[in-house]
Amino acid sequence: MTRVAILISGRGSNMEALLRESRDGILAGVCEPVVVVSNRPDARGLEVAKGFGVATAVVPSAGLDREAYDRVLVEALEPYAVDWVVLAGFMRLLGPRMLRRYPGRITNIHPADPARFRGVGGYRWAWEQGLLRTTVTVHLVDEGVDTGPILAQEDVDLRGARSLQEVESRGLQVEHRLYSRVLRRLFLQGQGA
Ligand code: GRF
Repeated sequence: MTRVAILISGRGSNMEALLRESRDGILAGVCEPVVVVSNRPDARGLEVAKGFGVATAVVPSAGLDREAYDRVLVEALEPYAVDWVVLAGFMRLLGPRMLRRYPGRITNIHPADPARFRGVGGYRWAWEQGLLRTTVTVHLVDEGVDTGPILAQEDVDLRGARSLQEVESRGLQVEHRLYSRVLRRLFLQGQGA
């Protein structure tokens, strides 16, 4: 079974969806989330992960530049012997050391089409632009901000949305479904299926 680390920085709703799917959904028997890592000690998702009985680790990033953080992150992950690293609302950029350690094996989910919007605040952008739809993206991670090769995209219907909260909740529903589907496909391919 594919061993996975999930990296978070906050709420962890994508992480929660992945943990649930791994326990008794479409990722059951496909992957095992062996650790949830947060760069922030106060990330709400840490408690959720503990509730699932998954090991958690805080690897604080405060005060560390990209290179220094990369080094501590690689070391922190080593004992868990993971095959894939899944970013789920992780708000730090990774560097060459992580990318070399897990080549082509780091994924991210982004709440927009990176060709149109990159970085933080994708749902606010969609709301402020008055978009009728936005596009959730799952991609492989490289050194850029939301720039790696795209694995899958799915549109979110925003017609009639009356608040930023509504935009976000419609988007997250799509994110939660899409991420586990894409990871299932990816992990099964990796096993030669
Ligand atoms: C999601 O919108 C994700 O696309 C983006 O950050 C947000 C994280 O939310 N990268 P959560 O922590 O998974 O609830």
